[in-house]
Amino acid sequence: MWNISHLRALRKLPSAEFHTCSRLGAMKAAGKHRARVYVSRRIPPAGMEILQQSGICDIDQWDSDDPVPREELLKKVAGAKGLYCLLTEKIDEEVLKAAGPSLKVVSTMSVGYDHLSLEELKKRGIRVGYTPDVLTEAVAELTVALLLATSRRLIEAAHEAKSGGWGTWKPLWMCGNGLSQSTVGIFGLGRIGEAIAKRLKPFGVKKFLYTDVTPRPEVAANISAEFVSMDELAERSDFITVCCALTPETQGICNKKLFSKMKSTAVFINTSRGAVVSQEDLYEALANGEIAAAGLDVTVPEPLPLDHPLFKLKNCVILPHIASATIETRNAMAALAANNLLAGLQGEAMPREVPL
Ligand code: GLV
Repeated sequence: MWNISHLRALRKLPSAEFHTCSRLGAMKAAGKHRARVYVSRRIPPAGMEILQQSGICDIDQWDSDDPVPREELLKKVAGAKGLYCLLTEKIDEEVLKAAGPSLKVVSTMSVGYDHLSLEELKKRGIRVGYTPDVLTEAVAELTVALLLATSRRLIEAAHEAKSGGWGTWKPLWMCGNGLSQSTVGIFGLGRIGEAIAKRLKPFGVKKFLYTDVTPRPEVAANISAEFVSMDELAERSDFITVCCALTPETQGICNKKLFSKMKSTAVFINTSRGAVVSQEDLYEALANGEIAAAGLDVTVPEPLPLDHPLFKLKNCVILPHIASATIETRNAMAALAANNLLAGLQGEAMPREVPL
């Protein structure tokens, strides 16, 4: 069974991330009023333990691995002071109206918060917590794994090996693109983009390029990356990895225009949000050989229907949104989301709050 000290020892996270105990214990002893919180899914044990041990909230939970039905969410959120949610729940005007004026804090167990209507939350003075940093390493690791699986055609090759396609050693068979001496383009240079670049560097990458809304010289200096326009990123990169947040500006930004400027040998990787990519345009680019291959951990919708055309392409590797899926990372996310929620309930500074 996971407990907080187990997780703290594993992650070596600052103890501020795990501040359930003394302050909350004092509140418990003082017998303060308990707030009702709604937890919209079964969550990793580290998060649940923190909420339970706090003694300051009554927990109502959708105790399932599958998402809470919308109707149930609307019903259960009514009168709650805190909402602990996941990226699968759209927290919009309808939910906030159903919650009513008691709702003071929404804490999402995700680094992305495009599923939250920030404008509506701000209008109501509801504070928002999220979980950056604790998943950076896991996401960067998975991105590198997906890039290699895609560029070196691992899924296709493994399938051939077990389905009779493996004749003999052939000089021209299953050749992909190597990272050595390559140029890697990072679209959105934040914590995760930097962590990906640091992991790719030892593979012999020659040059890192990046594009973003503005240059980020401090981060770029750590990985010697050059700031370029989106067009230049497309034209010069052998690999493009998308690490930006989904915003109105980035929605659909990876489209026909981008793919048409990319090298025909280039590999496109997305571990951010599916909606950043026009999947129709990506399909065309892959099917027509405009680009060599794509690796996606995120799609629209999720799950992607089994009959989706992208599943039919050998040069497209699709994963079911697992970038942060290590046991310790998911526990750290759950714990951070719990601590954000508790801090919000008490009107204190959250460990990680979205500025509204
Ligand atoms: C995962 O996609 C997250 O936003 O945490």
